[in-house]
Amino acid sequence: MIRNKITRRKFMTAASAGAIAAVASRAIPAYGNQSKKASKLAVRGGQPVRTKPWPSWPIWDKSAEEHILSVLRSGNWYRGRGTKVSEFEKKYAKLMGAKRCLATASGTTALLVALHTLGVDAGDEVIVSPYTFIATYNAVFLTKALPVFADTDPETFQINPDKIEERINERTKAILPVHILGLPANMDKINAIAKKHNLVVIEDACQAWMAEWKGKKCGTLGDLGCFSFQNSKHLPAGEGGAVVGNDDEIMDRCHCFHHCGIPYGSVKRTSSYPTRGGNHRMQEFQAVILMSQMERLESDTQKRNENAQYLTSKIRDIPGIIPHKLYDQVTRAAYHLYPFRYKKEHFNNVPRNKFLAALKAEGIPCSGSGYGPQYKDGLVEEALNSRGYKRLYSKERLKRYRQENHYPDNEQLCKEAVRFSQQLLLGTKKDMDDIADAILKIYENRDKLV
Ligand SMILES: Cc1ncc(COP(=O)(O)O)c(C=O)c1O
Repeated sequence: MIRNKITRRKFMTAASAGAIAAVASRAIPAYGNQSKKASKLAVRGGQPVRTKPWPSWPIWDKSAEEHILSVLRSGNWYRGRGTKVSEFEKKYAKLMGAKRCLATASGTTALLVALHTLGVDAGDEVIVSPYTFIATYNAVFLTKALPVFADTDPETFQINPDKIEERINERTKAILPVHILGLPANMDKINAIAKKHNLVVIEDACQAWMAEWKGKKCGTLGDLGCFSFQNSKHLPAGEGGAVVGNDDEIMDRCHCFHHCGIPYGSVKRTSSYPTRGGNHRMQEFQAVILMSQMERLESDTQKRNENAQYLTSKIRDIPGIIPHKLYDQVTRAAYHLYPFRYKKEHFNNVPRNKFLAALKAEGIPCSGSGYGPQYKDGLVEEALNSRGYKRLYSKERLKRYRQENHYPDNEQLCKEAVRFSQQLLLGTKKDMDDIADAILKIYENRDKLV
């Protein structure tokens, strides 16, 4: 229920003209049943909006136990002696609408397999989203390539496709977009740029199971797509990952690399070990857990989408709360996290950490403030200062890299992002009302937080 709705554009214009208070009072949505203004903030000793616990994660079905036990009792725990990993690969490829899937030990190893197989080598450059989990950066560094960041689009939280071309040079080999938070990146523009510059596209879909761009699953839109099945993920197995693709020859090479370089399929045996490779294999135990978890993935995805849309409708008119935007071509998101931006100017300049603490006190857990500008962390300098990177890249290139290593839109987003974990979206509409009520209560009592 929203009273006196005004558009955000009108609100922002008026706010920038210094009319925040007057406009805000017209823009505030109504609460459930009570006046939150009258009620005291929980962080100041008042009653919290919510005391009921939230769904925990992961959720498993008892029927998984017999499958795990049967693997245990078989003694075939390794994919070379069992059938479960291959069975999972077929099922996951089908679910994704991809020709092939290769299961891996983790999302990180999936990225390493994809980068290596598509020919990203020491001394190459890879265009990467700066707003991501650190594993995306690490996979590029571990390949001894240079991750070159293109700034973030703060509205969608995704790599800004209009900032990619200016980062391409003669050493650029690949674009590695991340469908971060489970919201699809702009794959039409990214693929068009890749085609124009003859680059490969590796999708980091490690948070984007079942997300769709124009009806096609994320992870199947570029040359290869990578997934993670770590404990917090929507398809969890403790650890695990996958590479999906449609080219048999490339997928055979992926298999070969993930299995010590041992020939596979079309990779011919010219000698015992025709290529380099590692052990990035998935275990049989992981595969049976994944097949059991797959049974709930579709209905969970639907629920997260319904609740995300509902939550957006409840919070979008609260001044200073800017929900994420999905591109028009997104047919479904995965919502590994539900993000919005917090504009403290509309909350009496209450810093984000105080807003988060107030939310937590109201019974709404927040999964931290999100990713920081990690390209300013030690790992980038540690890599650039290493003997290997100094050999591979000229002094001029590294100097320019350091000079350009600022992404203002991303840095602003890192200061403003607020995210809810996926399991909060598995609740009811009433649960979403609690989240919206807590945010509004804090907004209305913002003067008490200063
Ligand atoms: C965006 C992204 N990329 C890569 C990874 C790496 O996956 P894993 O932890 O399975 O190695 C993760 C995992 O959290 C991720 O969120």
